[in-house]
Amino acid sequence: MALEKKGVLWVDGEMVPFADATTHVLSHGLHYGSGVFEGIRSYRQKDGSAAVFRLREHAERLVASAKAYKIPLSHPVEALMEACRLVLRENGLGDAYIRPVSFAGLGSLGVGSRDCPTVTAVAAFPWGPYLGPEALEKGVRATISSWTRLHHSMFPTAAKGCGQYLNSMLATREAKEKGFEEAILLDRDGKVSEGAGENIFTVRGGALRTPGREDSILAGITRDSVLRIARDLGLPAVEGSLTRQDLYAADEVFFTGTAAEVTPVREIDGYSIGIGRRGPITERIQSVFFRAVRGEDPRYREWLTAV
Ligand SMILES: Cc1ncc(COP(=O)(O)O)c(C=O)c1O
Repeated sequence: MALEKKGVLWVDGEMVPFADATTHVLSHGLHYGSGVFEGIRSYRQKDGSAAVFRLREHAERLVASAKAYKIPLSHPVEALMEACRLVLRENGLGDAYIRPVSFAGLGSLGVGSRDCPTVTAVAAFPWGPYLGPEALEKGVRATISSWTRLHHSMFPTAAKGCGQYLNSMLATREAKEKGFEEAILLDRDGKVSEGAGENIFTVRGGALRTPGREDSILAGITRDSVLRIARDLGLPAVEGSLTRQDLYAADEVFFTGTAAEVTPVREIDGYSIGIGRRGPITERIQSVFFRAVRGEDPRYREWLTAV
């Protein structure tokens, strides 16, 4: 989806018009991917107000990602949270996607250089379901990528580092060129890791399973929310490795992520998953999740921060 070139962004404490939120072509982050980012959603609540879903966890992950890459951040968690809320308010947004990014700016071009000042910016804009408007109900067709998910011995895979996303970009482009909506990446041992921009779950015999940190995943905040929702529904839900065969043999498969929310997978490489459309457990999880994000379930109120 093309960006709407309007509104204001927060850049290191200042509100800046869209056209002026630019950076130099010799910024370190542009050359080496030396940055970290977040993807966060806010949702319109029943009373017309807006709230951000799990804002603190996202701000904490941004700080943790920066630490993993030794990118100094001058904004603590509270300030980052406030910046996200401010950008939503200033742009009059309710249902929105929020994109904080911190990167090594202009200083020098030595790969390991520490003398590039960090630039932190927060943007927000409307963004519908990541995998298309019909995906949430009908499910998507996915393919196992020919690209291997980068391994935790190569990158801090639990961090959301900008450069890491070249791996996701290759997998996504390949999947789309082959006519699929999303890619699933295996790790170097052939175990299932995650989608190009989502975590993955299987459902078998009423129990949920999702790969763990040792499978080189980004430990998603939506994944964590779904694990809690499943347990609250009385469904067994465990973290553990999955083989490719486990995906094909599952009753249901779904992706979780801030952008993709909870999206069913109906087919993988020509294998129909379960009944070949959204399964009943995925639907139950989705229903609780979407009530939670809109503030309609008191059990999950603590996940929402008012804008
Ligand atoms: C590679 C990858 N895995 C998993 C996720 C899901 O993470 P979250 O639920 O925190 O958005 C994302 C999205 O941020 C992602 O890019």
